[in-house]
Amino acid sequence: TIKVLVAEHAGFCGGVKRAVTMAMEAAGPGVYSFGDLVHNDLVNSALADRGVQSLGTESVTDSRIIIRSHGIHRKQREQFIADHNTIVDCVCPKVSKIYDIVAAHYTQGYQIIIFGDADHPEVQSINSYADDQGIIIGGDMDVSRVVLQKSILVSQTTNIEEKFEILANLLKKILNDDILVYNTICSATRLRQLATAELAKQVDVMLVLGGKKSSNTRKLYDIASKYCDTVYLLESIDDFKFNIKNFVKIGITAGASTPSSVIEEAVSRMEKFDNNEMMEAIENSFKRI
Ligand code: F3S
Repeated sequence: TIKVLVAEHAGFCGGVKRAVTMAMEAAGPGVYSFGDLVHNDLVNSALADRGVQSLGTESVTDSRIIIRSHGIHRKQREQFIADHNTIVDCVCPKVSKIYDIVAAHYTQGYQIIIFGDADHPEVQSINSYADDQGIIIGGDMDVSRVVLQKSILVSQTTNIEEKFEILANLLKKILNDDILVYNTICSATRLRQLATAELAKQVDVMLVLGGKKSSNTRKLYDIASKYCDTVYLLESIDDFKFNIKNFVKIGITAGASTPSSVIEEAVSRMEKFDNNEMMEAIENSFKRI
């Protein structure tokens, strides 16, 4: 028989739970959400069902605006307030803390170095507290724009710890130790990543559940792939359409914005499969990256 194991710390983290609860409470007609609340379509469509409209570039006044968990540009927030809107601030407190660190040091003349993905809204929002002047360093560890000056290093909350350490050490050398290192990687991410690695070592196949736009889900996929040969990234278990006859142990993990209902559904579906039962392999429906 098939054994289904769920990683510890899979799914919603504290910040996302808080954001979803706040947003659901605020939801209703005349309420807007700026960008997706979290990187999960199921959550976002639940909000839409309650009447929340998605706000694009148009401006609104005298409305309530839900601000997503991974933050928005400081100027955008200020504009909303200037337009007499009320903010439903769903930004994770751990992200707001990075804003405080960056803002405080930027005003004191520090060079702000951010380890993260330059295209990610969280990183852009962090950089906005340094007037967009921060140096963003991505996975390629390109430090060529760093200048000799007192500096601080912060990280996107979802980064991988080991890579952050490597960059911190590299920068310490370049800057002759004139750098304050703030490891702002969220422990929820760390624990989820460790648990994913542990589980991936023990199973034949890993299913990583999460939104395709979710960077932390993609990182879980990368980590699982290090330890397990067969890993699939699925938005929900409905996307799972392949032959599992060779798998005895199935591991399941999920990104920070994946609702527990998605995990539960995946577990119950997997448990229903019999190991000897041949499912039709539908190669093209593989959600493998
Ligand atoms: Fe916040 Fe960490 Fe979640 S930064 S949104 S608690 S992954």
